[in-house]
Amino acid sequence: MARKYRVAVHGAGWVSGEHIKAFQSNPHAEVVAVSSRKESSARAKALEAGLKDAEIYTNYEKLIANKDIDIVSICTPNDLHARETILAAEAGKHIVIEKPIALNLEDLKKMRDAVRKAKVKTVVSFVLRWNPLFETIKALLADNAVGDVFYVETDYQHNVGPWYAGYEWVTKFARAGGTFLAAGCHAMDALRWFAAKGQYETMDIAEVTAYEGGYRQKVDLDYPGFSLAIVKFKNGALGKVTSNFDCIMPYNFPIEIHGDKGTIKDNRVYSHKFPGQKGWVTIPTILPDSGDVTHHPFKGQINHFIECIMQDKESHCNLEDVVNTHEACIATMISAREKRTVKLPLIED
Ligand SMILES: NC(=O)c1ccc[n+]([C@@H]2O[C@H](COP(=O)([O-])OP(=O)(O)OC[C@H]3O[C@@H](n4cnc5c(N)ncnc54)[C@H](OP(=O)(O)O)[C@@H]3O)[C@@H](O)[C@H]2O)c1
Repeated sequence: MARKYRVAVHGAGWVSGEHIKAFQSNPHAEVVAVSSRKESSARAKALEAGLKDAEIYTNYEKLIANKDIDIVSICTPNDLHARETILAAEAGKHIVIEKPIALNLEDLKKMRDAVRKAKVKTVVSFVLRWNPLFETIKALLADNAVGDVFYVETDYQHNVGPWYAGYEWVTKFARAGGTFLAAGCHAMDALRWFAAKGQYETMDIAEVTAYEGGYRQKVDLDYPGFSLAIVKFKNGALGKVTSNFDCIMPYNFPIEIHGDKGTIKDNRVYSHKFPGQKGWVTIPTILPDSGDVTHHPFKGQINHFIECIMQDKESHCNLEDVVNTHEACIATMISAREKRTVKLPLIED
């Protein structure tokens, strides 16, 4: 068997343990290094994962200078992803990038250009694309179960509060990027995923109109915790999406998709494919109903990424694809503050 891909996981916090487990379960990869700001965190994470021989780093430049490392998994707070991605691309590493990949348009463009130039493979952790309900819905869309989609709704409803390990940084706009970039980007990405009929395709957003509200800006966030956006896709379909950190309820991620031949509401389907259908068909599958990282399908995402590297093909969820997701998230803030509709793209090709 060929040599396994050698992986470094950087940023030894909450999500990194799931990245490590996902790589450990792939037969073509091995985690050889754990890196973090604090040596004690990197060592503890390696120990927890049973990686007694892993190299420990506290200097990111030294980590990516290691020529034996093939893949870097970036699990640090949001404001560090852009710089770390650019450095990893320049060092020729394939990269797993946690969402959001960037907090402003300038960084988004620099990252995209660096990855284009280096021709390395990337996958961005819009991990819900591998959630079983998401996979089922995409298979149904590709099978024409609801026909042509004309309207999609998704909502990220999660009280990101003091329970969260990253609460100290996620409450600061400069480090989190606002409610949509910090986590509502999952809903924005899902909106693009479900607006496209192809099983592995996304539909780009062309226009965004948004409002910001909620109450937590007066409590513990230094940005609005609730944002509501209406979008128009480039094929003319419409969408509505919210990012809601202010809700007082358990985690929820509702999905609604309307086509000219049927409708999907979460795991319920109404379709022309079922003649004489009198009510909803309910699919008993795993829903996106938990904010816990242990519930997220990172193994599916990482297996897909290793396959992309081995077969020299691009991921449907690569950096290039999710630029539009991030532009739309940034557009919600421009739209709300300047009280206007924002047209995409915002960065030049
Ligand atoms: N895809 C998903 O579903 C999902 C789910 C959860 C999180 N995420 C994303 O994953 C990233 C990490 O989130 P997390 O929840 O794992 O956060 P976290 O628990 O705060 O972990 C981040 C780690 O990065 C290290 N770090 C390095 N430089 C740092 C700095 N300058 N400031 C603060 N920490 C620094 C910290 O370890 P030290 O102890 O060494 O300081 C920290 O433990 C975020 O971008 C988040 O949006 C994605």
